[in-house]
Amino acid sequence: MKIFKDKHTLQREILKTKGISFIPTMGGLHKGHISLIKESKKSKFKTLVSIFVNPKQFNKKSDFRSYPRNTKKDIKILKKLRINYLYIPTSKDIYGFKTKNKVFLDKSSKKLCGKFRKGHFEGVLNVVNRFLEIIKPKYIYLGKKDYQQLYLIKKHIEKNKIKSKIIECKTIRENSGIACSSRNSNLNKNQMKIASDIFNYFTILKKELKKNYNLFNINRIKKDLINLGANKIDYIENYNLKSFQKIKKPNKKFNLFFAYYIKNIRLIDNI
Ligand code: PAF
Repeated sequence: MKIFKDKHTLQREILKTKGISFIPTMGGLHKGHISLIKESKKSKFKTLVSIFVNPKQFNKKSDFRSYPRNTKKDIKILKKLRINYLYIPTSKDIYGFKTKNKVFLDKSSKKLCGKFRKGHFEGVLNVVNRFLEIIKPKYIYLGKKDYQQLYLIKKHIEKNKIKSKIIECKTIRENSGIACSSRNSNLNKNQMKIASDIFNYFTILKKELKKNYNLFNINRIKKDLINLGANKIDYIENYNLKSFQKIKKPNKKFNLFFAYYIKNIRLIDNI
């Protein structure tokens, strides 16, 4: 595994290859990332992972500061997985150049997480646009847990006619059912149990809604979540994955999207 801190050195190396399969991360690697990497390794291209905790996508300084970081452990994991390249840029390496493409922010960026984390998706697309220009990957691997992010990156790629293809990968879960996330490492045992109870609650709710959509009573659901140990709820909404629209008719296929807090730890998922 070769490690790069500077985009020019990285680009010189990439030029020698037939192409790159790219997994962007903010570190704090978990089973979800590992599964993306394993998918990427099945492609005929070299696997490149980036680790960059992007300050522009955090709407609160405290959240940026408390975001889990453990580069030493991450490097160990990546070495074991035998990836080809690791890119750990500085902020200057990423933000110190003018991009060719403008960020395209689809209007659906204002919904769900976009409504509650002002500037978050602008920050995500800004950094992803820069990574795409530096690396020009054939494939980019993204998890469906962050489905709104995946959808918006797809729209940006389409609008700018960028040649990278998104490979959508399924959400990987802990044994307790909760979606793997770097933020899980900030949860203590009791908080893990709350997150797992909430996951089970939503799994049962979704089954019930499929039979009787009238049970979708937001106030009741919010009360139940608070009783289970959530401290704040940002949203609970049903979206069709293809159109990425809130469902109007109960018979439409949907995923239940939710975001809530346990203390100051924000968790999101869709099932
Ligand atoms: O999903 C993430 O970890 C980040 O939003 C990403 C795509 C690496 C951009 O910083």
